[in-house]
Amino acid sequence: MKRKVTKAIFPVAGMGTRFLPATKSVPKEIMTLVDRPLIQYAIDEARAAGIKEFIFVTARGKSALEDYFDTAPILEAELRRAGKTDLLEILRATNMESGAIAYIRQQKALGLGHAVWCARRLVGNEPFAVILPDDVIAAETPCLQQMVEAYAETGGNMVAAMEVPQEKTGAYGVLDVAEDMGQLVSVKGMVEKPAPEKAPSNLAVIGRYILSPKVMNDIGKLKKGAGGEVQLTDAIAQQINEPNGGVYGFRFRGQRFDCGSKAGFLQATVAFGLARDDLREEFGDYLREMVMLDKAAQ
Ligand code: UTP
Repeated sequence: MKRKVTKAIFPVAGMGTRFLPATKSVPKEIMTLVDRPLIQYAIDEARAAGIKEFIFVTARGKSALEDYFDTAPILEAELRRAGKTDLLEILRATNMESGAIAYIRQQKALGLGHAVWCARRLVGNEPFAVILPDDVIAAETPCLQQMVEAYAETGGNMVAAMEVPQEKTGAYGVLDVAEDMGQLVSVKGMVEKPAPEKAPSNLAVIGRYILSPKVMNDIGKLKKGAGGEVQLTDAIAQQINEPNGGVYGFRFRGQRFDCGSKAGFLQATVAFGLARDDLREEFGDYLREMVMLDKAAQ
């Protein structure tokens, strides 16, 4: 029987060094795309996919994240007094049902695999989702929802996948494809950050996963992999030949932005800004002007 996916892990314990000095005191996941922090996009996507329990793997210096999902009594009272019901409504999206959110700490940044493993007792014996909040995906149907629907048919383990230029494979986990079924591919191998000439395909894993609880046991047994970190990809790869296991790549419909990098974050800011009814005109005019000035200067 395939079980419903109701738990999601959000690994947010990384140091975010690519955004120093900002991340010296502000967690990367609190940085804002237009007017919402990255973590809000991730939570909204999880909610749309039917997730009921939200597990954050955090670290020292990330308490702003916990405050973000708490009530803000003074602010709320002030807004109520001023009759600002529209702003109170906006704040409601940040409120979590009591007991729906859990925080555990990864004491040492030993890699994504290790961060996920820190949540093993909270996950128990159920399939679970993993969402990396710095991969932001603009999609008509939110990416994890697309995956949950596909997973109901496949079971096993599923990773979000997208084609990347061959020369960029060294930045991703890359799939060795057994059978290409269109949106779904079955996987016969996974390689973390291969050099372009060694990459088995150009189908890269990005930050959405639905995993069997067995992956947790495998992470526990792993040694450090590529980059000296405990790699999630290596543990998922162990499931490829397991009975009732299997690993599927899922080509999602949507556009992914790498908000863990500066260029990706800026691109997402432009795309999400232009997608907003209240900003499109003014922001669009400004961008066109900038492009014209740039062209004229060349
Ligand atoms: P990244 O590779 O982007 O690392 O992690 P990072 O530390 O966040 O950022 P940089 O590279 O120093 O700028 C991918 C995801 O895995 C989490 C991060 O929080 C991010 O969501 N992660 C990474 C952990 O939770 N723990 C780790 O030990 C490493």
